[in-house]
Amino acid sequence: MADLKLTDVAKAYGEVQVLSNINLDIKQGELIVFVGPSGCGKSTLLRMIAGLERITGGTLEIDKTVVNDVPPAQRGIAMVFQSYALYPHMTVRDNMAFALKIAKQTKEQIDAAVENAARILQLTPYLDRLPKALSGGQRQRVAIGRAIVRDPKVYLFDEPLSNLDAALRVATRIEIAQLKESMPDSTMIYVTHDQVEAMTLASRIVVLAGGGISQVGSPLELYERPENEFVAQFIGSPAMNLMSGKITATGIQTRVDLDGGGTAVAAIATTEADMGRAVNLGVRPEDLFETDGPPLYQGSVAIMEALGEVTLLYFEKDGDGTGVVAKLPGIHADLKRQVVKLTADPSKIHLFADGRSLLYR
Ligand SMILES: Nc1ncnc2c1ncn2[C@@H]1O[C@H](COP(=O)(O)OP(=O)(O)OP(=O)(O)O)[C@@H](O)[C@H]1O
Ligand SMILES: [Mg+2]
Repeated sequence: MADLKLTDVAKAYGEVQVLSNINLDIKQGELIVFVGPSGCGKSTLLRMIAGLERITGGTLEIDKTVVNDVPPAQRGIAMVFQSYALYPHMTVRDNMAFALKIAKQTKEQIDAAVENAARILQLTPYLDRLPKALSGGQRQRVAIGRAIVRDPKVYLFDEPLSNLDAALRVATRIEIAQLKESMPDSTMIYVTHDQVEAMTLASRIVVLAGGGISQVGSPLELYERPENEFVAQFIGSPAMNLMSGKITATGIQTRVDLDGGGTAVAAIATTEADMGRAVNLGVRPEDLFETDGPPLYQGSVAIMEALGEVTLLYFEKDGDGTGVVAKLPGIHADLKRQVVKLTADPSKIHLFADGRSLLYR
């Protein structure tokens, strides 16, 4: 069970700087999720923590001890990969026992550890099967079981569910949430591309982009108070709409007149110095609703997707090529090619100047 501290951690492959200035304090019992665009360095950072990749700058501490030069096996870390990497010729029991046999534990210790892990992961009925006789989700549970038997201080998961189909992904995600509940003191770091996994599993999400950390916060902090336009558009699906405009009234609330002709009031305080300032207004598709009053946005619907639970409206693109998206609850009459007027509550409006949220000035 462990705290992790990363101080100015950096990684370069030869001349190419992949990560720099990574500062992160992870407390025992947290489940930290790394998200970010493909190639931003999520796996690299995880592999550096595991000791599978050399750290080229800064320090990594586990429980206040610098471990930069400690070999992987001595860091007390277990890693679960996207490809389960099971031994095909060994039973589930032997796959899970393998590392403990290498570590020369007694048969009693090994049996107890394997049976405990199998019970937690509901794999007891499958202990004598070969991996090929298991479903994808069961195989991934065996891979997790191999980590659990070692009783590591830190669990690292690199997109463990991305090989599973949609239904199995949901089921296995819930199992991972239950696993974390059953091991409240274990520290976990989890990499995913999946928004729902990130939002539901994380105690805190780390958004990586451009070789560094863009923002760290609880899932709802990132959703409700993104620090910059990148995080605003990365968290949430479909992405937050951004529209350019100018501040036309300041005070405890701020009015913005949009270049597209709409107008909106944001529950964000500004001062007279902000009058006339160019901003991007951000509004999530799910925060837009139809209005008869002066709209924040009006446009002609290009594509309508009726999903039953929600209806997505994709509007004709403006001159600058950005198409607004709205997500309305429930089922609607066909709105294709019709003009729809939309607005949003002041508390749901985000304002960015030079890419940074006005909330964080
Ligand atoms: N051994 C290597 N030598 C040189 N460059 C590498 C090496 N391994 C990774 N990189 C580069 O480092 C960057 C980060 O890679 P990494 O695999 O960590 O990304 P990622 O965020 O995990 O991406 P994905 O979401 O696609 O898995 C990429 O630009 C990649 O090309
Ligand atoms: Mg990766």
